[in-house]
Amino acid sequence: MNNDLKEIFQKFIDENLADKPIEKVLGFLTNIFPDKVCFSTSFSFEDQVITDFVRELGIKIFTLDTGRLFEETYNTWNLTRSKYNINIKAYYPNPEELEPFIREKGPDSFYRSVENRKTCCNIRKVHPLKRALKDNKVWITGLRAEHSAARENLSQFEWDESNQIIKYHPILFWTTEQVRDYIKQHQIPYNILHDKGFVSIGCAPCTRAIQPGEDFRAGRWWWEDASKKECGLHVHK
Ligand code: ADX
Ligand code: SF4
Repeated sequence: MNNDLKEIFQKFIDENLADKPIEKVLGFLTNIFPDKVCFSTSFSFEDQVITDFVRELGIKIFTLDTGRLFEETYNTWNLTRSKYNINIKAYYPNPEELEPFIREKGPDSFYRSVENRKTCCNIRKVHPLKRALKDNKVWITGLRAEHSAARENLSQFEWDESNQIIKYHPILFWTTEQVRDYIKQHQIPYNILHDKGFVSIGCAPCTRAIQPGEDFRAGRWWWEDASKKECGLHVHK
């Protein structure tokens, strides 16, 4: 987006959307972009809260099924379908990319190098994400500022240059306590790994529980240097 457009985009957001309640913003977005608003869920605590907000608004809900998710994550997916009577579209890795990669490197090559790990994330998450976002105008996520230093500086609305889409993070400034309270109050099904020390949950071989006091994302790709801990779904400037 060029600088003039960026200015118009920011002005539009400041005038229409800044500080408005989530329901209002979602209503506004679905009115101006009918059938072009989507939400990506990994069935995390945060995503379960957002599902509760978006489920009746005609917003498309999708997940990226990497093929390496926890059993508990699939259980949460099932429980969510039944509670809300909704369909969640799953996007899968392209076998033409995945099969040669696994044949050459083996099933768990991500532990051996950052390069392998990134290739695996690209094949299993980033490329399917591109397909999921295609033809949409707004992408809703469950990112929160508390997750990491990089996420602290985000704004609720961003222009995602690599995916050419507006991103909206409705609960960016919620605290962990607010998220937990909302889940409890509304009796929303959640991933039971959250009760076993798992905070940020991704693929099973690449996620572990954390100890009290450890960083929010310490359990993701724990064998890597902290500066590399993003999988490429969210590119922070
Ligand atoms: S990641 O970049 O480290 O993988 P994280 O697990 O923090 O992301 O989740 C942040 C947001 O990214 C989620 O709220 C969700 O919107 C999206 N997301 C992450 N993983 C997936 C997935 N497997 N399927 C769909 N959306 C996902
Ligand atoms: Fe592959 Fe691990 Fe990335 Fe999942 S998180 S896509 S298993 S490297």
